Amino acid sequence: MKLEIKDLHVSVDDKEVVKGVSIMVNDGELHVIMGPNGSGKTTLAKAIMGHPQLRVTKGDILVDGKSILGMKVNERAKLGLFLQFQNPVEIEGLGLLNFLNTARGALTDKPLQFKEFMSEVKDSSKALELKEDMIGRSLNHGFSGGEKKKAEVLQMRVLKPKISILDEPDSGLDVDAVRIVAKNVEAMRQERKMGLIVITHYSRILNYMQPQFIHIMKEGKMVKEGGSELAHEVESKGYNI
Ligand SMILES: Nc1ncnc2c1ncn2[C@@H]1O[C@H](COP(=O)(O)OP(=O)(O)OP(=O)(O)O)[C@@H](O)[C@H]1O
Ligand SMILES: [Mg+2]
Repeated sequence: MKLEIKDLHVSVDDKEVVKGVSIMVNDGELHVIMGPNGSGKTTLAKAIMGHPQLRVTKGDILVDGKSILGMKVNERAKLGLFLQFQNPVEIEGLGLLNFLNTARGALTDKPLQFKEFMSEVKDSSKALELKEDMIGRSLNHGFSGGEKKKAEVLQMRVLKPKISILDEPDSGLDVDAVRIVAKNVEAMRQERKMGLIVITHYSRILNYMQPQFIHIMKEGKMVKEGGSELAHEVESKGYNI
C-alpha cells in the first residue's frame, strides 16, 4: 500500500500547524520524522489518521492514488492505516483483550476463532516481553509508560495494518524495551511489507531499524531529508544543522 502526503496544510482552531508537508511512503519503507517539540509531528500523524478536530486546509493524503480526506477514522483503519499514540489513553473498565478482539473484529470481515486469536495475543505479548497478566487488565489503566507503548505495539501486531505511524514508540522505554519494540516493528515491516512512519527524538532506536529516509520537521515544514547519518548529526549538533 502506498501513502502519499502532498503539500499538506493542517490547522488546529484556525492556527496553521502543518504548513505544506509532502512525503511518499512506498510498500515496506521506513520513514523517520524528527524535529523540535511543537513542530507539528503529532498533528501530522493525527491528520493522516483523520482526527476530527483537525482541519486540512490545503493539499491531499492519498492511499494507492485515491484521496482519503473524506474518510472517517474507522474507514481509514479498515483501509489498513494504524496510529500509535504518543500518549495512549487509559480506559478503565475496557479490558485490553476485549478491546483487541473488538478492534480486530471491526477491521476484518473474517474474524478469527477465539482460540486462534488468544494464541496470537499470547505469542505477541511474549515477543514483546509484556507481563502475562497485562492482557487481563483494563486498557492502559495503571500501565507504566513503557507498558503503554508496548501495548500499542501489541495492538499493531494483532491488527496487522498495511501502514503504521508510530508517534514516539521509544519515549520512556528502557534500553532493553527499545530494542524489543524496534525489533518487533522491524520484523513486521520486513515480513509483511508494512509501510512505516516513526516519529522519534532519539537516534538510539535506529540501532535496530534501517530507515530509507530521515525527515527533519521544523515549524510545520520538512526542512531537511537524508539517511540515518542525519539522525546522528541531530543527536550531536541539535536542530540547527
Ligand atoms: N488541540 C490543540 N489546541 C491548541 N494547540 C494545539 C493543539 N494541538 C496541537 N497544538 C499546537 O500545535 C503545535 C504542534 O504540536 P504537535 O503536538 O504536533 O507537536 P510535536 O512536533 O508532536 O511536538 P513533541 O515533539 O513535543 O511531541 C504546538 O504548538 C501545539 O501546542
Ligand atoms: Mg508529538
